Amino acid sequence: MALATCAAFPELDDDDQLLRTALRDADIDAECVVWDDPAVDWTRFALTVVRDTWDYVDRCGAFLDWASRVPRLCNEAPVLRWNTDKRYLDELHQRGVPIVPTTWLTPGADPQGLRIDGEVVIKPTVSAGSRNTERYGAAEHEEARRHVARLLADGRTVMVQPYIHGVEAQGETALLYINGEYSHAARKAAILVQRNVAGEALFAAESITPHIATDAERAAGDRVLGALPFDRSSLLYARVDLVPADDGTPVVLEVELTEPSLFFRCDDEAAARMAAAVGRRLLRRAPRV
Ligand SMILES: Nc1ncnc2c1ncn2[C@@H]1O[C@H](COP(=O)(O)OP(=O)(O)O)[C@@H](O)[C@H]1O
Ligand SMILES: [Mg+2]
Repeated sequence: MALATCAAFPELDDDDQLLRTALRDADIDAECVVWDDPAVDWTRFALTVVRDTWDYVDRCGAFLDWASRVPRLCNEAPVLRWNTDKRYLDELHQRGVPIVPTTWLTPGADPQGLRIDGEVVIKPTVSAGSRNTERYGAAEHEEARRHVARLLADGRTVMVQPYIHGVEAQGETALLYINGEYSHAARKAAILVQRNVAGEALFAAESITPHIATDAERAAGDRVLGALPFDRSSLLYARVDLVPADDGTPVVLEVELTEPSLFFRCDDEAAARMAAAVGRRLLRRAPRV
């Protein structure tokens, strides 16, 4: 099988080393392969699992083309297509999932007509690792509008959200699912504590700690998985990121079905659980004798 990664992380990141060890322990022969390496013959793998393909953001079309060409891809190409554009949040919202309140602007919209209140976050709908994501104070609305204008001029759809202050006290909760079943949780500290956090890097630095999910968080996660336009058990991996609204209720910031860090470090059993899930999928695909 292949673990798809990007050229900047040809051997995957530190957290995924736990997965490589767990796969080895399960006697699964896994190779790290760079997704846009033109020399690779993807048909030779019994399974390809997307892991650290973080440089696709500026070439999302090429990435999705690649995904549609790779046989036996996890998660599957239609899932990646749906999930790489955060407009899916609006779809989930329409199905009753509580999300961070979001105003959407598509290229051609006039940023001067945008109503902004208080502290806001501006980000493009296709992004990862906090890139092009900025927080603006109540006295910085002109800068915020300029950021919106820049993204729109680049042909990108823009999201405007209130800054959720709860992430500073509590952080962001990541719920991890393997084969659609709850696995473990992690806490991510607030990221937008300074300007241009990601800079030219593929992602901003993150501080991650283990977390025991609350009942309210687990319920919110289940609601998300039930509202997806895919059968949850078809997803090898899924991550639901929640932040606390002003009244403390968890609301969805992001659903990661493409290339999420799975925070194996936060649960001693998680990497083995993932390796077992991969093993079951490999068996399902093995020819019967
Ligand atoms: N509305 C918001 N309020 C507070 N923090 C936010 C908000 N939106 C994003 N952030 C911060 O920016 C980070 C990146 O944003 P996110 O929406 O998760 O996009 P991605 O991880 O795909 O870059 C989050 O982890 C969070 O710390
Ligand atoms: Mg995120």
